[in-house]
Amino acid sequence: MQSQGPTPVLDPHALAEQMSGRLLIGGELVPARSGRTFDVANPATGVVIGRAALGEAADVDAAVAAAVAGQAAWREMGARERGRLVVECGRRLNEHVEELGRLVALETGKALRTESRVEASILADVFTFFGGLAPELKGETVPFNPKMLTLTQREPLGVVGAIIPWNVPMMLMALKIAPALVAGNAVVVKSAEEAPFAVLRACEIMSQVLPKGVLNILSGFGPECGGPLVAHPRVKKITFTGSVETGRIVYRTAAEKLIPVTLELGGKSPMIVMDDADLDRAVEGAMVGMRFTRQGQSCTAASRMLVHDRVHDAFVAKLKARVDALRMGDPLDEATDIGAIVSRQQYDKVLSYIEVGRGTPGAQALECSSMPEDPRLAGGLFVRPVLFTGLGNDSRLAREEIFGPVTCIIRFRDYEEAIAMANDTEYGLAATIWTRDLRTAMDATQRLEAGFVQVNQNLVVQPNLSYGGVKTSGLGKEASLESMLEHFTHKKTIIVNMT
Ligand code: NAI
Ligand code: MG
Repeated sequence: MQSQGPTPVLDPHALAEQMSGRLLIGGELVPARSGRTFDVANPATGVVIGRAALGEAADVDAAVAAAVAGQAAWREMGARERGRLVVECGRRLNEHVEELGRLVALETGKALRTESRVEASILADVFTFFGGLAPELKGETVPFNPKMLTLTQREPLGVVGAIIPWNVPMMLMALKIAPALVAGNAVVVKSAEEAPFAVLRACEIMSQVLPKGVLNILSGFGPECGGPLVAHPRVKKITFTGSVETGRIVYRTAAEKLIPVTLELGGKSPMIVMDDADLDRAVEGAMVGMRFTRQGQSCTAASRMLVHDRVHDAFVAKLKARVDALRMGDPLDEATDIGAIVSRQQYDKVLSYIEVGRGTPGAQALECSSMPEDPRLAGGLFVRPVLFTGLGNDSRLAREEIFGPVTCIIRFRDYEEAIAMANDTEYGLAATIWTRDLRTAMDATQRLEAGFVQVNQNLVVQPNLSYGGVKTSGLGKEASLESMLEHFTHKKTIIVNMT
C-alpha cells in the first residue's frame, strides 16, 4: 500500500543540508511562505550545519488548514487501522535509527553512543505501544434508565498543536504525536529552534505512511511560530514541553480560547540517600539520574542530592570518581560520553549558575572530567560537570532549574529533615529515595510531592507509565493509556430514548 521510505542518509551534514529550508505541510516538504530561513549550528564546533525554514503565522495557517483537511478522513478511519499505521511509523523510524541518531547528535551536541542513538532507538517502542492501544478508545454503557440506552463515546479533539523542546526532541515529539494520532486527531508540531532537523526528518519518514495533512511540522521561533499555533482558532488542544515561563504564556493564550493544555515543565528533582542505602547502587542511580551524559539537560534530572551526613563524604567521593571517568568530546565520536551544551543561551545560563554557586559562602565546587583536547572543538559549548557541596537547600542553585551538568549535594541529619527539604521546592516532577529500610521507603513514597517517585532505582520515562509533574512542574500526564484517553479525546454522552 505505502511506498517504501527514503533511503537512510548516514552523513548528518548532508542530511542537515537536505532538511534545510523545509517545513512539512500536507505531506509535502515546502519552504516557508516568506522563503526565509535561520541558521542552525553544531554546538560542539559553532559551525553552521544548515538553515531551517523560518515558519511564521502564514505557515501556521497553511499547516492548520492541511491538518483540518487531513483529520476529516483520519477520524473516520477505524481506530485499529489508525493504530496499525502508527505502528508502521515506528517500524519505518526503526530503519533510520542510525541516521536520526547522528543528525540529532549533530544539531543538539548530545553524544551519539550515550544519548542520541539511544533516543532514536526507543522511538519505535512509543509508536508500537500507542498503536496497540487503539482498541482501548472505547466508551461505556451507563445504567441511567432502563428505557434510555445511555452510552459514552471517545471522540478526537480535532487539530492538536504540539510544541516541543530541544533536549530529547524526537522522543518528546513521539510521546505527543503517537497518542494524538491514534485517538484520531491531526497534529501540527512546532519544533525547537535549536533542533529542527531530526524531528523534521522523522516526520518526513512518517509522512510516507500517514495520509496527507495528518502530521505537519513547522520550524521557527517561539513567539512568531509557536505563538500563532497556540492562538489559532482551529487548534483545539495544545501539548507543550519546555520552560515554566513559556508554559504560562501558552496556558494564558489557551485560556482565552478555552482549550485544554498539557504542560510538561521544569523540575528540581530530589534524590534522597539514607545512611543505610547501598552506596554503590545509589551512585549508579545518581549517574543515571543526573543525566550528565545529556549535559544535565533533562527536566527529570536528579539535580538535588540530599545525602545523609554519615555517608555524605563517601558518596561524594564515589560519585566524583564516576563523573571524572566520563569523557567529554565530539558528540559523533563513539568514545564520547558527554557532548556540548545545546546553545549559547543555555551555555551562558549554566556558566552563570556555576559562578553564583562559587560565590555562595560555604560552597565547594568539584569540577569533574576534563575539557576535550581536540582543537576542532575549541569553539564548542563544553562545560565541565560540577558537583556542588556545602550549599543550603535555600540557595539559588538548589531552588532554580539549571538544565546543565550541575548537581547540588546537600547534607541532612535525619529522615524528617530530608523529606522537608525534598518537598521545599516549587517543582514536583520526580523524586527518588535510596534505603534498605522498607518502612522508610514506603513512607517516602507517600510523602514525596512529585509525579514520579522511585525507590532504589532511577528508571527513565516509560511509554506505559503515566508521567507528569505536580506544582509548577506541569499539568496533565504524558505516556500511558490514561494520557491518550484523558488528553487527546473527549467523552461524548449519548442517550437513546427507547419509549
Ligand atoms: P522554552 O520553553 O522557551 O522553549 C520550548 C519550546 O517552546 C520551543 O519550541 C520554543 O520555540 C517554544 N516557545 C518559546 N516561546 C514561545 C511562545 N511565546 N509561544 C509558543 N511557543 C514558544 O525553553 P528554552 O528557551 O529552550 O529553555 C529555557 C529553559 O527552559 C531551560 O534552561 C530549561 O530550564 C527549561 N526547559 C525545560 C524543558 C523540559 O524538558 N521541561 C525543555 C527545554 C527547556
Ligand atoms: Mg525560551
